[in-house]
Amino acid sequence: MTGASGALGRVLAAALGRQSWTLRLTDIRPFPGPLPDGASFELADLADADGSRIRALAEGCATILHFGGISVERPFDEVIGPNIRGLYNIYEAARRAKARVLFASSNHTVGFHRRDEVLDLNSTFRPDGYYGLSKVYGELMGELYFAKHGVESVLVRIGSCFPKPTDARMLATWLSYDDLVGLCACALKAETVGCIKIWGTSNNKRMTWWRGDDREAIGWSPKSSADEYADELASKTTGDPVVEQHQGGAYCRIDYSRPE
Ligand SMILES: NC(=O)c1ccc[n+]([C@@H]2O[C@H](COP(=O)([O-])OP(=O)(O)OC[C@H]3O[C@@H](n4cnc5c(N)ncnc54)[C@H](O)[C@@H]3O)[C@@H](O)[C@H]2O)c1
Repeated sequence: MTGASGALGRVLAAALGRQSWTLRLTDIRPFPGPLPDGASFELADLADADGSRIRALAEGCATILHFGGISVERPFDEVIGPNIRGLYNIYEAARRAKARVLFASSNHTVGFHRRDEVLDLNSTFRPDGYYGLSKVYGELMGELYFAKHGVESVLVRIGSCFPKPTDARMLATWLSYDDLVGLCACALKAETVGCIKIWGTSNNKRMTWWRGDDREAIGWSPKSSADEYADELASKTTGDPVVEQHQGGAYCRIDYSRPE
């Protein structure tokens, strides 16, 4: 698992450790706190031009849970190393180790779609920044390595994975920690997956922007729902039309300079 010292990495390491998976964890930052039972940890930089360290770490792994890298909108030069070179390193490592990849993609691959649209897997990419663009690249990397090398991928377009939804947008985008753990466990256990794409949200029915994906291939069905927070959060909006009209929300506003 890459990104093991990050917010989602720590949640996953603890939960998958409790499920007795053997975990090889890595990040560019030390793992905060004690390691889960049966887990090992090594520092590594995804952006390393050589890539041999990442390849060595992947040896003997059945699946790479790829959660490492730049996880928010940042300037192009900060994104390119961890998220573009890093993806190449991960997929080359997976190819050599004959490992499956679960890639933590993002709703920011489609962030400039409007909120009155309901998207499916045929909808076009509309990234809302360099971060979202790097996730588009990751999804296409998964397609390339499956077509050319048979490397399997579960490409998860994560919405907003936090302990609780905290604003109106998250009534559509929230993914609970339990549902994320469930999804990863399904992806680890599935016999064959090919190259599939899943909308990473909980069972949010009141507000739905995304439908129709490949979850059946791994038998995942989310259990949580943001619906129960609707009364509390429906009015928690920003009043900014660029933010509120687009699925990517605040990421669409960053460095926005389109003439009205
Ligand atoms: N949290 C969400 O709601 C959400 C939504 C969509 C997608 N995602 C994706 O899920 C993944 C995890 O998200 P998170 O919220 O835990 O982010 P996070 O920033 O907390 O964790 C990312 C980890 O990647 C590590 N990292 C950064 N650059 C690195 C490098 N060059 N080499 C090795 N490690 C490096 C960081 O040290 C960090 O621990 C990210 O890929 C993110 O884009 C998260």
